[in-house]
Amino acid sequence: MPISFPDGFLWGAATSAYQVEGAVAEDGRGPSIWDTFVRVPGATVHGDTGAIAADQYHRIEADLDLMADLGLGAYRFSVAWTRIQPDGWGPINQHGLDYYKRVLDGLHARGIAPALTLYHWDLPQALQDRGGWAARETAERFAEYASLLFAALGERAPLWITINEPWCAAFLGYGTGLHAPGVRDEAAALTAAHHLLLGHGLAVQAFRAQGPRTGQIGVTLNLSTVHAASDADGDVAAAWRVDGTENRLFLDPVFRGSYPPDVVDYYRPVSDFGFVRDGDLATIASPADFFGVNYYLQHRVRADPSDLERGATFLPPMGTTTAMGIGVNPEGLTDLLVRLKGEYTALPLYITENGAAFHDYVDPEGHVKDEERVSFLEGHLRAAHRAIAQGIDLHGYFAWSLLDNFEWAEGYSKRYGLVYVDFATQARIPKRSASWYRAVIERNGLP
Ligand code: FCB
Repeated sequence: MPISFPDGFLWGAATSAYQVEGAVAEDGRGPSIWDTFVRVPGATVHGDTGAIAADQYHRIEADLDLMADLGLGAYRFSVAWTRIQPDGWGPINQHGLDYYKRVLDGLHARGIAPALTLYHWDLPQALQDRGGWAARETAERFAEYASLLFAALGERAPLWITINEPWCAAFLGYGTGLHAPGVRDEAAALTAAHHLLLGHGLAVQAFRAQGPRTGQIGVTLNLSTVHAASDADGDVAAAWRVDGTENRLFLDPVFRGSYPPDVVDYYRPVSDFGFVRDGDLATIASPADFFGVNYYLQHRVRADPSDLERGATFLPPMGTTTAMGIGVNPEGLTDLLVRLKGEYTALPLYITENGAAFHDYVDPEGHVKDEERVSFLEGHLRAAHRAIAQGIDLHGYFAWSLLDNFEWAEGYSKRYGLVYVDFATQARIPKRSASWYRAVIERNGLP
């Protein structure tokens, strides 16, 4: 079935600073928690680091041309906090700011709308040394940093995303320790989650108080669809718990100004939520202009008393899986978008990330025929379109990612790009999915 998207639908691709920029010690950039974490033996596959990554800091003009060739309507990128404030506080480092001005001007010159993420996981190490996101001060420093950028870059950016995926930043960073800063302390993870949300709310308030007169601001959450493995009460309860810790712990404060009581109860052995101060929840629920959704996961959950932590097991995915071992479940995206409108918000939605890693390789003729990615993206675009047909106000879609890049703990072993990067030479080779996406953008739909 041919489908067309609404007029003005924004077609984008996304990256983040530490994953693509490289140039980690240039022009006054300070160290972030990822620069520190990647040096821990075993922290990343092959000991890979983002020190060079896709070298976008030096190749931005060529990458901008690549985006124009793709016909992108928007580019989502993040600002490295430590290029702006090397320690996380104090005056602006002009060289760092100039880089992002070049990015923004280059996008405008090509008619590509910038979507600027203020925080995509690269906390200044100097702030981590004072407790990181487990310390309330970090939320305040974040709002100051955001204010500096609102004043300095103001009208140049139409879309501002405060925090990317607070669940990952908190629970992988401070809970399992799989991501920087590598802390393993569930109480710290919960505290960090609250402070990340607080940082978002404070930044929204700063945007309203003294931000640019144009432009819109919102947060991006990674959300999953959670199904119980059966109708049995235990499975249903286990699925609700997982939904609570992954989704509602973030959605409820942002849209309802409260933490879900069952999730607070669940975490009681770990934390009394004493980190919540008067007024925090109202701040977190400050009205935003749009809401960003990153969709990667659908879970099937079975009750499992032997799992002491949450009494639940995730069943292995059915059907096709990606190179990450993640199931391909586009229908979960429709369900998720419909749920958001039904239960949480009428705000305009953007899919700020969606994509998959596959075992891409350059064939002897120099092509990367990533047909799996084409069908992954096609399935998810059709799923997004089904949500639009059901009245969901979806304004845009950002494929993750423009380029193969540093995939955090997976290093360079997992490729998510529409464009292949040969990391030895930094050559860019648009994959089959890139030309497919260009055609989708051109016709604003699918044949
Ligand atoms: C998301 C992250 C993004 C990228 C994708 C694959 O969780 O926001 O940086 O790593 O996953």
